[in-house]
Amino acid sequence: MKFFVDTAVVEDIKELNDYGLLDGVTTNPSLIAKSGRDFKEVIAEICALVEGPVSAEVAAMDYDGMVAEGEHLAKIADNVVIKLPLTLDGLKACRYFSQKGIKTNVTLCFSANQALLAAKAGATYISPFIGRLDDINIDGMELISEIRDIYDNYGFETEILAASIRTPNHVKDAALVGADVATIPPAVIKGLAKHVLTDKGLEQFAKDWAATGQSVL
Ligand code: E4P
Repeated sequence: MKFFVDTAVVEDIKELNDYGLLDGVTTNPSLIAKSGRDFKEVIAEICALVEGPVSAEVAAMDYDGMVAEGEHLAKIADNVVIKLPLTLDGLKACRYFSQKGIKTNVTLCFSANQALLAAKAGATYISPFIGRLDDINIDGMELISEIRDIYDNYGFETEILAASIRTPNHVKDAALVGADVATIPPAVIKGLAKHVLTDKGLEQFAKDWAATGQSVL
């Protein structure tokens, strides 16, 4: 499973990238607003930092606007992925970019039929939002599982990018049902390494080692 980080905070991306844990980055208009930074400047900075795909989302709602914005964003760097909303205009723009060989991430997916349409439009990634479905008492993981089955039935190459991940359990469950990628907030990625018994065991080892008075080097 590939790990993308879901943030526009360059310092967090740099830290996770240095650990070797990152395969890519996703951003969205809310994350850009939260960063307080210039959109295109921050995307260029992230693209220079990370080798993998970096999703940059269009703001336009209509096909012509999405194409114009996507063309503009695609010029920022070779690893920019054009993020498009799951609307009829977004799917049309997805078809346009996929025919040009430009990678796309179709976002705000909340149903298996929407995911089917995105695959038919040639999307590189489909982003089902797990957390936001869970928020309204619909099983987000069930959606990932349905999309996996449908894509496998027809051999679609669109990658399932599990989004709106809020907890380490979301990551584990998405991996179990076969999501290709998870886009995860920085704190949740770091949380994956934590276990209370790891901390306890390490504390004991450090104590016992100190009692030997030895040095490894
Ligand atoms: C995905 O690409 C989105 O940016 C993100 O995962 C949305 O997460 P949220 O529902 O926690 O805002």
